[in-house]
Amino acid sequence: MFQSIEAAPVDPILGLTDAFKADPNPEKINLGVGVYQDEHGVTPVLESVAEATRRVVATEKTKSYLPIPGAPEYAAAVQRLLFGEGSEAIAEGRAVTAHTPGGTGALRVAGDFLKQNLPGATLWLSDPTWANHPAIFAAAGVPTRSYPYFDPKTNGLAFEAMLDTLAGVPAGDAVLLHGCCHNPSGIDPTPDQWRRLADLLSERGVLPVLDFAYQGFGDGVEQDAAGLREFCRPGAELIVCSSFSKNFGLYRERVGAVTFVAADAETCGRVASQMKRVIRTNYSNPPAHGAALVSTILDDPELAGLWDAEVAAMRDRINGMRSLLVAKLAEHRAEGDFSFIRRQRGMFSFSGLTRPQVDFLREKRSIYIVGSGRINVAGIDPDNVDRLCQAIAEAQREA
Ligand code: LMR
Repeated sequence: MFQSIEAAPVDPILGLTDAFKADPNPEKINLGVGVYQDEHGVTPVLESVAEATRRVVATEKTKSYLPIPGAPEYAAAVQRLLFGEGSEAIAEGRAVTAHTPGGTGALRVAGDFLKQNLPGATLWLSDPTWANHPAIFAAAGVPTRSYPYFDPKTNGLAFEAMLDTLAGVPAGDAVLLHGCCHNPSGIDPTPDQWRRLADLLSERGVLPVLDFAYQGFGDGVEQDAAGLREFCRPGAELIVCSSFSKNFGLYRERVGAVTFVAADAETCGRVASQMKRVIRTNYSNPPAHGAALVSTILDDPELAGLWDAEVAAMRDRINGMRSLLVAKLAEHRAEGDFSFIRRQRGMFSFSGLTRPQVDFLREKRSIYIVGSGRINVAGIDPDNVDRLCQAIAEAQREA
């Protein structure tokens, strides 16, 4: 039966990690997958997470199933993080949240929901976008198109071109926006641009879908939710797909959430029932542990404060590495002005490296970067930055 099956292509991001692990070069550098590393190259368990783990293990009484959307206290904590204390959508009971296995799980639940409940909707994705977005929505059977996002001439947002295309999106379609720290470009709209995007989508009757995987890695946990909150106007509908892989360092625990905001509480009840049906036919109900850690932290002011400080420390280290990278590229005489890297936000930098340069770095220098030229800045440290910048300068000359 399996003889005729062809091999699938290697995943453009996670496939790099496999290749990196198999590389015997002791000086290899992995700047592919978006995983935070400290200055010693370690992806740490946060102290807040370690303490929450002790508490959860000490108090856990059962391993019985959770409800289909997961634990209610987790859903409440996620909504407060997204929309803020005193949010109208929360108070009106028009938001429903399910714990999903990671942000990818949230996107897939959103995709299945769109396909089954809004079958005529096309989903518009930014160009460029996270490499897994098109594949997730294709797997769910949701048609996708793209809108301009990144302007390589300015290394900034192609805002007017973006608005032009979005102004032509038909009513009833959906537009996926990255809530902060755009993956892969690191370029986000300004507050005024967020407001104009929210105005436009609401005037056109287009559903916003926010992918929110890096809350806290831009300017701060509260500050990074500002763009998303522009869309959460009275009576407005939206979907938010959250991930807590990066900001809680809970990658392998698979902790994410999908949140639907409906026009009113009655509609929200019907949306919730369809959301539960989608989940039941996919993974039935979520794994408990990671979500229990998140709600234990967010529900305890002391632990929440510690977590906020730990997110700030990760953010500061990444921003420090951005500055160091720009300085070291100049020191190693890499061609061009890389100062734009300092303006990008979050884990990633769209470096402008070409595909042949990316291939050169991997094949000749054991430095792993996503084919688009996206660098995970959180994988840079004072010990590997010189080797990296020297290799980039060589790639520019030789590839
Ligand atoms: C990334 O973009 O590297 C991360 O979101 C990890 C992943 O699953 O691709």
